[in-house]
Amino acid sequence: MLINKNTVFDCSIIDISKIHNKAGNITVVENDVNLPFDVKRIYYLYDVPGGESRGGHAHYELEQYIIAASGSFDVILDDAVNKRRVTLNRPYMALHIVPGLWRELFNFSSGSITMVLGSQVYNEKDYIRNYNDFLKYRGE
Ligand code: TYD
Repeated sequence: MLINKNTVFDCSIIDISKIHNKAGNITVVENDVNLPFDVKRIYYLYDVPGGESRGGHAHYELEQYIIAASGSFDVILDDAVNKRRVTLNRPYMALHIVPGLWRELFNFSSGSITMVLGSQVYNEKDYIRNYNDFLKYRGE
């Protein structure tokens, strides 16, 4: 298996922008326009109890957009050398997470909704759930 050399600095925060009118806003995520991969899966996290964290794993191949569709939360990205903390709190901003990085989501605001767009369908074999296995995979 190839050791993935993506770093936390390969992740970007994308301004998806919004269409505003007096009746409210629309934000559109479209393949080939503001999305660098084809979406195969969408899921969302909600009713996250106060103080809980999610994630705590890496993926070999999955690429994701993570969006605070409502409320806010923080994400820690980790490439085994560098860590980066990102706050998501706008429904028109997406965090693009490239493959091979450890991530944790925490500090969820009450009622927050985390929307995740993924490049692959769910596959447990794509997960690295043990941090020491992740360090080995990264060659650290
Ligand atoms: P997990 O990815 O570990 O959640 P998080 O990263 O948000 O903490 O998944 C939690 C559980 O849900 C786990 O048993 C697998 C299941 N699951 C699916 O069946 N399909 C999916 O698309 C996802 C994301 C999770």
